[in-house]
Amino acid sequence: MPDVHILGIESSCDETGAAVVRSGQRVLSNIVASQIATHQPYGGVVPELASREHLRAIVPVVRQALADAGKTYQSVDAIAVTQGPGLAGALLVGISYAKALAFALEKPLIAVNHLEGHIHAVLLEQRRNENADLHFPVLALVVSGGHTHLYLAQVQENLWTYRNIGHTRDDAAGEAFDKVAKLLGLGYPGGPIIDRLAPFGDPHAVKFQIAQIKHRDRRDHKLGDRTFGDHALGNHAQHRAEEDGPQFDFSYSGIKTAVLRYVETEQLKPAIEARRQALAGISTPTHEDIRGLSDRQLLNLVASFQRSMVDDLVVKTLAAARAYDVRTLFVSGGVAANRELRATFEREAGMEGLPVFFPSRALSTDNAAMIAAAAFPKFLRGEFVAMDFCAEAGMALR
Ligand code: KG4
Ligand code: ZN
Repeated sequence: MPDVHILGIESSCDETGAAVVRSGQRVLSNIVASQIATHQPYGGVVPELASREHLRAIVPVVRQALADAGKTYQSVDAIAVTQGPGLAGALLVGISYAKALAFALEKPLIAVNHLEGHIHAVLLEQRRNENADLHFPVLALVVSGGHTHLYLAQVQENLWTYRNIGHTRDDAAGEAFDKVAKLLGLGYPGGPIIDRLAPFGDPHAVKFQIAQIKHRDRRDHKLGDRTFGDHALGNHAQHRAEEDGPQFDFSYSGIKTAVLRYVETEQLKPAIEARRQALAGISTPTHEDIRGLSDRQLLNLVASFQRSMVDDLVVKTLAAARAYDVRTLFVSGGVAANRELRATFEREAGMEGLPVFFPSRALSTDNAAMIAAAAFPKFLRGEFVAMDFCAEAGMALR
């Protein structure tokens, strides 16, 4: 079969991405324009600003991706774009541009679910390494700023299907990292900062309890019983009620409140404010700058927080892996870049003889290579979309 070159476009949140991937496994280019500097002063993504930044970045980012890959608009075989989930206005920028390109160039257009993209970031690298170890069923933990979701993944004749067997009831894991970092005056996004600080603290210094949610199964699930997470994902509740088997849900809003309580009882606010101001005075603070402004108590707090998050993610995921008797584990999404999470998964899954795969750290966070990779099996199946397809902010993965 001749090589297939897909131009992927990603704009679901705060990164404008374009990439060219050959036959779902070779990344020829992968450009990501980050908006961190834009959203930094607000400590989180501001949707309207995100859309404007995507508008500014989309054309140069796509041009650069083609140039780096040595391709032209004409020489790609298809255009793939993130349809959802994500911020509606941000998604629309990538989708409108992808539609315009596909129309003008008369190329097929492929719509990709962002979460499927995260899963295919792992597959891309495994295919490239010709990994023969990939046994099904696969359990994929997608853990990012917007999601903490467990999927069972299957493939048959290039048709990938997914079944959600757990998700966060409130905050996503990455959101908890971001909110705790903001609360502690450490900057944005919090995940990479906490990742770097945690090794300098004592992970046993502060005890955090993470909510243990009783595993539900089909019998005790009522359709009227919608959680915030279900709501955010549209008709997820109904989808889940149609399925058998236990559910492995997460909850991370409690630990954020526990950190806040600790800050109040230990009267850390003046030190936090001083750190926030000191960091605001540095144009681009490095991890060393942040560490220099962190005292022992803060380092211990951060290490304990990360340790609790990691333990909870690993314990729940491995419990789900056992319950569904899976043969392979994938961990992807922004939080999968976390060093302690990787090391703990490798150790604990290894002890159970379960192979665990992550994307490289660069492909863990949002990028368009994963979108182009997820589009490849759809290309082989001729699964193209018409020009009138829409962004789906709350798109579920099936
Ligand atoms: O996948 P991603 O780039 O965007 C979403 O789809 O949400 O994930 C971004 C999230 C942010 O919450 C960020 O703080 C978190 O991933 N993150 C990390 C690390 N790198 C990024 N969390 C923990 N440790 C990291 N090294
Ligand atoms: Zn993502």
